Amino acid sequence: MAKLCVIIAPDPRLKITARPVAAVDDAVRRLMDDMLETMYAAPGIGLAGPQVGDARRVLVLDIAHRDEAPSPLCVANPEILWVSEETSVDEEGCLSLPDHYAEVERPARVRVRFLDYQNETREIEAAGALATCLQHEIDHLDGTLFVDHLSLLKRNIILRKLKKAKKLGPQPAMARP
Ligand code: NI
Repeated sequence: MAKLCVIIAPDPRLKITARPVAAVDDAVRRLMDDMLETMYAAPGIGLAGPQVGDARRVLVLDIAHRDEAPSPLCVANPEILWVSEETSVDEEGCLSLPDHYAEVERPARVRVRFLDYQNETREIEAAGALATCLQHEIDHLDGTLFVDHLSLLKRNIILRKLKKAKKLGPQPAMARP
């Protein structure tokens, strides 16, 4: 396995529409393994292909708590089959928008069909953190970031700060107030 480089917004590579995979073969499994390693190292709870510069419709997530055993989910070609009318508001963050968090309203429950690590077609109905995380990661496959769900004003404030941080380059951790 290898750790991959996570792309930080704003970046055109985060705005692409990713392409479906023909099947979850060894090459796709290698990508899933590398993405999981990258996500756990960050640490994060989800990661999508475009965030590591890969244009395939692949995502990984693990919403297990720190004191629980890891419970990774590898997903290719996800399709949202149904969303609930009921919505919920959760605070979201993203490895591509480090240190920024905002409340996002989304359907509270979703049903998703996808290809798993074994190339089996699976369907799950998700609620709570899993529903939020799945929708957030599927968004990435269509070039949508969580800030795209916020007002233009809030989005621009966050993206401007990220752009400025990029220009300054990596700062020593102690320099942050
Ligand atoms: Ni994200």
